[in-house]
Amino acid sequence: MSVILAIESSCDETAAAICRDGEILSNIIASQQIHTQYGGVVPELASRAHMQQIVPVVSQSLLEAAVPLTAVDAIAFTQAPGLIGALFVGAQFARSLSLALDKPLIAVHHMQAHVLANLIGAEKPAFPFLCLTVSGGHTQIVRCLSPYELVVIGETMDDAAGEAFDKSAKLLDLPYPGGPLIDQYAKQGNPKAFRFPEPQIPGLNFSFSGLKTAILYFLQENTAKDPAFVEKHKADICASIQYRIVSILMNKLKKAAVDTGIKTVCLAGGVSANSGLREALQQTGAEMGWRTYYPALQYCTDNAAMIAMTGWYKYLQQDFSPLDSVPTARAGW
Ligand code: KG4
Ligand code: ZN
Repeated sequence: MSVILAIESSCDETAAAICRDGEILSNIIASQQIHTQYGGVVPELASRAHMQQIVPVVSQSLLEAAVPLTAVDAIAFTQAPGLIGALFVGAQFARSLSLALDKPLIAVHHMQAHVLANLIGAEKPAFPFLCLTVSGGHTQIVRCLSPYELVVIGETMDDAAGEAFDKSAKLLDLPYPGGPLIDQYAKQGNPKAFRFPEPQIPGLNFSFSGLKTAILYFLQENTAKDPAFVEKHKADICASIQYRIVSILMNKLKKAAVDTGIKTVCLAGGVSANSGLREALQQTGAEMGWRTYYPALQYCTDNAAMIAMTGWYKYLQQDFSPLDSVPTARAGW
C-alpha cells in the first residue's frame, strides 16, 4: 500500500489531499476570499494566504484521511504553471516534508493533473481519449494516450475560456470570479436572446478576445440607449454569452474527435464545472456516439486530489524529482 500526500498552491486555492493506491481519501481546499475585493487574484496576497493556510490544510487532509504523517510514502506538489510566489510556498513546504520524512518528492504539472482528474473514482475513461481542458489560464484540447503521454493538439491564441467568462462577468459588474455567476444567471435566461459572434479560427485553436470586444460594444451600445439594460436583461445576456463560449468549445472538440477518430471525450478544469458545458458534452456525445466523462464538481476547479492522482501515476513509475527542483510560472508538459 502506498500513500501520497499532495499539495496544490498554483493560484488562489490552498489545497492538500491524500491518496492511497489511487483512491482519494481526503481533499481539503481553502479558497482565498481576499481577492474578491480587488476584482482578481493579487499574487502577493495569494502567497501570503498560502503561507497562513498550508499547515492547517495539510493537517486537515491527514486527519480526514485518518493517515498519520509517518505513513506517507511520497509528497507530490504542483510545480507549474501558476503564480510563481504561490507555487514557491507549496513547493518549499513539500520539499521540507520530503527532507524531514526522507520520502521522495514528486513534481506535478497542473494541467496534466486537471486532465487526470478524470481518472478519480470508479467510472473512468479508457485510453486513448480527448480532453477539453478549460480553466482560468488555459484552453486546450489534449490527446491522451496514457497517463504519461498527453499531447496538446489545440489551444487558445489569446484569452482562456475561464477568462472569457470572468471578463464578461466583469463587464456586467459581477464580482470575481464571475464564471460561476454567469452559469447561475444563465439558467433563468434565453441562450438565443442575443447573438454574439463565433470567431473563424482555422484548425483546433481557439480565440476569445474578439468575443470579449463584441460583448463590450454590445453593452456600451445598449446601456447608452437604456441605462438599466443590463439589470433588465441579465439572465438573457448571461445565457447568450455562455451559449457562445460553449458553442466555440464544442465545435472545436467535435472537429478534434473527427480528425483523430477518438470517440472517448472528457472535460477538465474550472470551466468544466459549467452546467451548460456539461450538458452540451452529453448532448453532442449522444449525437456523435462518444463516451463522455467529466470530473465530479470538486475535482474540476483547482484541488489537490488531482495532484495526488497524478502523483500516484508518477509514483508507479518511480518518477521522482530532486530536492532542488524549482517551480516555474510557465512550463510545457
Ligand atoms: O481550474 P481553475 O480552478 O483554475 C485555473 O487553473 O485557472 O479554473 C478557474 C476558472 C475561473 O475562470 C472560473 O470563473 C471558472 O474556472 N469557473 C467557471 C465555473 N466554475 C469555475 N466558469 C463557468 N462556469 C462555472 N460554473
Ligand atoms: Zn487549474
